[in-house]
Amino acid sequence: MERWNGKVALVTGGSVGIGKATVEKLVHYGMKVVACARNLEPLNEMVAELNKKGPGEMVPFKCDCSKEEEILEMFDFIKQKFGAIHVCVNNAGMSFETSILSGKTEDWKYMFDLNVIGVCVCMRESVKLMKFAGVDDGHIINIGSLAGKKVSNKPLYSGTKFALQALNEGLRMELCAAKSHIRSTIICPGFVVTDFLYRMYKNKEVGDKLFDSMECLKSEDIADCVIYVLGAPAHVEINDVLIRPTEQAL
Ligand SMILES: NC(=O)c1ccc[n+]([C@@H]2O[C@H](COP(=O)([O-])OP(=O)(O)OC[C@H]3O[C@@H](n4cnc5c(N)ncnc54)[C@H](OP(=O)(O)O)[C@@H]3O)[C@@H](O)[C@H]2O)c1
Repeated sequence: MERWNGKVALVTGGSVGIGKATVEKLVHYGMKVVACARNLEPLNEMVAELNKKGPGEMVPFKCDCSKEEEILEMFDFIKQKFGAIHVCVNNAGMSFETSILSGKTEDWKYMFDLNVIGVCVCMRESVKLMKFAGVDDGHIINIGSLAGKKVSNKPLYSGTKFALQALNEGLRMELCAAKSHIRSTIICPGFVVTDFLYRMYKNKEVGDKLFDSMECLKSEDIADCVIYVLGAPAHVEINDVLIRPTEQAL
């Protein structure tokens, strides 16, 4: 990881869960990390402690990644402050409890805007800024899901994560065709103990029941995976990682 020391990373959805654990690890390895979310308060709560520990630094930024104009503002900020980006972890993502037969179109649109279109905008803007800064060894890491490998009982969410599989591979092919050495990776977790299920079900019991049914992954397990992928030598591109709890049967 030494080669990332002092380099610039963006982690979307960096205030809790997988994103927060990833921000902490990247700061630990000396990176300058812009962490974004819609709510600034939890990000601000992380800053003092993380920046005291170092050796890297965290910079909070308020951004709704379902909105292109806010993403573009964030990339302008990164360009002004650091002049470059080296790593982009597209982690912000969510699911409504919705179905094809009875769901609301506005919920579906929001999920696709955040989980798919927002990620595409971040991929495009990251590569644009990398090229501007002469960074040819950058890395885009997308947080997919096991639900993007096999259709789950949340088909709309699965649809967004299947799309992300295709987009991650498409990005790899476009970069290769452009003779770029920027790498792209998708990390696909099974169940991780975070607020994700509580937010989706809006009901603590359902999440608790699932988390009690097996030893689930922890956010740090996914952050460790990000570090493993980034730590590979520059000529090694780990494209696709599936990581699930040992006890998760389906
Ligand atoms: N937990 C799991 O079991 C699991 C399994 C497989 C894949 N994943 C994927 O892992 C990623 C992270 O999930 P998590 O479990 O860590 O979820 P989480 O605990 O709910 O955290 C989500 C993070 O994303 C931010 N966020 C939500 N909507 C946003 C928006 N519109 N713009 C910017 N930031 C936004 C949240 O902050 P704000 O609310 O303040 O914006 C928060 O920081 C997601 O892509 C999810 O699909 C999770």
